[in-house]
Amino acid sequence: MAETTKEYEMLLNIIKTRMSVRKFRPDPIPDDYVQKILEVSRWAMSGANSQPWEFIVVKDPDIKRQLRDAYSEYNTDYIFWMEQQREYKLRHPSYQVKGDPRESLEFNKKKTNWHLAPAVIVVLGDGRRQWGTVMGAHTFGRGQSHLTDGLANASFLIHLAVAALGLTSEWVSIHVQEPFKRILGVPDLLMLYLIIPIGYPDVGPRAGTRRPLHDIVHHDRYDMSKYMTNEDIIRYLYGLREATVGTHAASRGVKVEKDS
Ligand SMILES: Cc1cc2nc3c(=O)[nH]c(=O)nc-3n(C[C@H](O)[C@H](O)[C@H](O)COP(=O)(O)O)c2cc1C
Repeated sequence: MAETTKEYEMLLNIIKTRMSVRKFRPDPIPDDYVQKILEVSRWAMSGANSQPWEFIVVKDPDIKRQLRDAYSEYNTDYIFWMEQQREYKLRHPSYQVKGDPRESLEFNKKKTNWHLAPAVIVVLGDGRRQWGTVMGAHTFGRGQSHLTDGLANASFLIHLAVAALGLTSEWVSIHVQEPFKRILGVPDLLMLYLIIPIGYPDVGPRAGTRRPLHDIVHHDRYDMSKYMTNEDIIRYLYGLREATVGTHAASRGVKVEKDS
């Protein structure tokens, strides 16, 4: 094997030790860390370099709480009930709950404590900046979007920079933007893409889980022996849940309920 560079080893180490944390300590972070993190993020790749991102750094405890409350009301509640329709073991790990679902929902909402993180970065996108990219990129369909691709790149660089500074973060998906826009006063034309709380973890480190390279890499042409049928995918999902339900619970500082 060819020797790698120390930069590669450092990068790989940061990437492999970065982890999503869903329980934060309120301890403050150094004043200029957010600026350092966003300095990394603004160098992300984007279609035609149109750089659609903007960031709102929220440190005000009252605004952070309002965001978390909106998240509980508009995201957690909705997603919780959607997940209850699936077979138990296929549900997202956060929503594999036993007993009275209403009680579990309340527990779930209360457990979400990212508003206690000392800083919350909200990633916004201005779709009009995409006028800079090739027009064809807007027409292919299949969910392709240079806007969200660019925002995802900028967001992931935030997570990486956070890890490089010895902090942790969470990817808080936004499905219903309007309540958050109202709280933050974001103009209608902008897209509210993601909430990223950052701070120190209130849970211990854990190993990540990823598919092995062998399963996902093809050489020269698509290797059909690696193609998964629909049924294979369902089997894969059962395995994935089995492997990750414990680590997900650990990231939230809760214990997994074992089957009796
Ligand atoms: C598109 C996307 C959506 C995600 N949504 C959420 C989310 O809403 N809440 C959350 O806590 N984590 C969310 N995550 C984080 C993933 O669950 C997490 O990255 C994955 O389980 C791997 O774990 P790790 O980040 O600890 O390596 C999301 C990640 C991505 C890329």
